[in-house]
Amino acid sequence: MKGIILAGGTGSRMFPVTQSINKHFLPVFDKPMIYYPLSVLMLAEIKEIAIVCRGIDKPLFEKLLGNGEALGINIVFVIQNSPAGIVDGLKKARHFIANSSFCLILGDNFFFGPGLTPRLVNAKNNIKNASAFAYEVKNPKSFGVLSYNSENQVESIEEKPENPKSNTIVTGLYMFDNKAISYADKLSISPRGELEITELLNIYIQEASLCVEVLGRGYAWLDMGTSENLMEASMYIQSIEKRQGFKIACLEEIAYRKGWISKDTLSLACERHKCTTYGEYLHKVLTELR
Ligand code: DAU
Repeated sequence: MKGIILAGGTGSRMFPVTQSINKHFLPVFDKPMIYYPLSVLMLAEIKEIAIVCRGIDKPLFEKLLGNGEALGINIVFVIQNSPAGIVDGLKKARHFIANSSFCLILGDNFFFGPGLTPRLVNAKNNIKNASAFAYEVKNPKSFGVLSYNSENQVESIEEKPENPKSNTIVTGLYMFDNKAISYADKLSISPRGELEITELLNIYIQEASLCVEVLGRGYAWLDMGTSENLMEASMYIQSIEKRQGFKIACLEEIAYRKGWISKDTLSLACERHKCTTYGEYLHKVLTELR
């Protein structure tokens, strides 16, 4: 399975902060935002990854992540210059996807919780048709909202409805088989001018082939796409890291624990990040996991 991170868009909900910088580089506590969705793909053992971004942002992503070699993965870039929707980004990545199934994650989504890794690996290994990860929220209006029939089966998903039919929303994490590309070609632009991910999911629902995995109350999920939510995510990550001493989304640690990078490569990362708490943490990983 391949992985795609959507990191395009204008970040207009965070102006003026994002007027001159792509929001996916903003710090979420001690790491750039993009580290969090990238860590989710790595935890799911996905090593072939495309980052969809604007042309002007590509050199900055390359400066941060290179081609992924230092993380034992392969990163390529797909250009989407105007934010014509999540499915538009997906269509732009069709050459990268080729004949594969793929996991799509939105670049501003944060996931954390017990057993997340085995759930992701299991969903990946058993992918049939499509899977979406859902979550219950108090205020569903800003998201894709699920509606259920009388037998409690998902009937449809509505994007940002005025009158949500439930409190369960679709997060920005999806797995698709290869049919998604031809289904994406059938979609037309929504009234708000985008090719909507919810409409792609609705095609799978109509075929009774969408698996919805609800992440229960033990999980944390945040869309970091507003200043308030970014701050909440930062505080959440700070408190967990401070309490436990483990870092969330330390990419080199994930790569090293999975045996994707050598001790020498990890030492180089320690050197690169020396004099930072991130570097100190990498050093701890290096010495404890000899
Ligand atoms: O976060 C979950 C929600 O994400 C879902 O519940 C919604 O169904 C889904 O449409 C999406 O809604 P948002 O309003 O949060 O999407 P947003 O426009 O903020 O874009 C999400 C990410 O995708 C963000 O990191 C930027 C990136 N993006 C977005 C668009 C529209 C792109 O890379 N290209 C695009 O064209």
